[in-house]
Amino acid sequence: MINVPKGTKDVLPADSYKWQYVEKKARETAKAFGVSEIRTPTFEHTEVFLRGVGETTDIVNKEMYTFLDKGGRSITLKPEGTAGVARAFVENGMSSQVLPAKLYYITQCFRYERPQAGRLREFHQFGIEFLGATDANIDAEVIMLANDFLQNVGIKNVTLYINSIGCKECRKKYESALKEYLNQNYDNLCALCKDRLNKNPLRILDCKNDECKKINQGAPQILDYICEDCKAHFEKVQKLLTIAGVPFKVNPNIVRGLDYYTRTVFEFVSENIGAQGTVCGGGRYDGLISQLGGNETPGIGFAVGIERILMLLENIGVQIPNDSNVEYYLAPMGERESEKAFEIVTALRRKGISADFDHMGRGIKAQFKYADKIKAQNVIVIGSNELEQGVAKLKVMADGSERLVSIELLAKGQVE
Ligand code: HAM
Repeated sequence: MINVPKGTKDVLPADSYKWQYVEKKARETAKAFGVSEIRTPTFEHTEVFLRGVGETTDIVNKEMYTFLDKGGRSITLKPEGTAGVARAFVENGMSSQVLPAKLYYITQCFRYERPQAGRLREFHQFGIEFLGATDANIDAEVIMLANDFLQNVGIKNVTLYINSIGCKECRKKYESALKEYLNQNYDNLCALCKDRLNKNPLRILDCKNDECKKINQGAPQILDYICEDCKAHFEKVQKLLTIAGVPFKVNPNIVRGLDYYTRTVFEFVSENIGAQGTVCGGGRYDGLISQLGGNETPGIGFAVGIERILMLLENIGVQIPNDSNVEYYLAPMGERESEKAFEIVTALRRKGISADFDHMGRGIKAQFKYADKIKAQNVIVIGSNELEQGVAKLKVMADGSERLVSIELLAKGQVE
């Protein structure tokens, strides 16, 4: 037997309706905010992520699925959605179209991580990217969209943490203070962080190594170093979130694991799904578009991990409605009746009503058992008597009630 690769999962029919539910809520929430869908390729030139996500990040250093294609090009399966959207924005001249561009995507992502609950090698994101606006009101709007999506799927018990990591200028000042502090603790840093110290000290704050985590607790905090403009921007974000009634906590430890962030960063974290509690992460990335060859264009967005949302919904006991079950199951009692059932299901389906019938030559009892298993909403029995009299018995499976329905109307795709 061949198994699925480690860190990947099949979504079987017993669960796919839950995915459809979450995806539907994502699309509905995006629509309510006037956001349009963008679809970018599953793989990009590796350069997109080297320049976009950043060469000192864990994603680029350790986690990318990178290979040479048959033409000798370095290709990478997307580890996240933002860099590909930014590449598409530049390549398709979207900066000369309506701004801000308000985009969303639902996509699979690939990261070679150590799998555990809530951490997979192929996973799925619902993401938002708003490009072209600098005002703090768009930061607040993006955060509200994430908040509304979580509420709409039925998640109430997550904490929103926000922080500002400043602009290029304030970052320089902060990085030198951070370097000075980390240099004093150099010997106790892990090998990777020793290497990061000169390349990108901010990444050290995100290190999962216990020793580094301890050191990080005493590190200078970025909020003490941000410039007046960044401070005013961050204050406005907080004010607008307060006006919108979105509860949040300022957490200076949120620095995010990708290099493109500037100013506002945020995460929604749950206590109910174990170690991988971050269900949503995002922030502003004012330098990304120019890094990928476009004009200076600000941007902000987030991504939600769909697997983590589903885990959380299950752990907190949210019942996801399943409307994918067939509406009418036709139970014919012989060959001639089976032909009629075939005619009826065809007519119902053409009217957009879901219908199914027996393909296995089962007896009536076994057909009812089957209808029960597939959770058919109604069963319509067609026996020879029924066929002659032109009326069939319809049983509503939820309450067992029965009524007669016209076979002639059914054959026209009408139930009543
Ligand atoms: P990220 O924090 O790397 O950000 O990922 C966003 C979300 O994807 C995480 O909060 C988590 O729910 C989910 N996720 C990440 N890795 C895994 C994994 N290995 N298995 C399961 N779920 C995972 C980004 O990807 C940014 N592109 C978000 C963004 C958009 N920032 C601005 N715009």
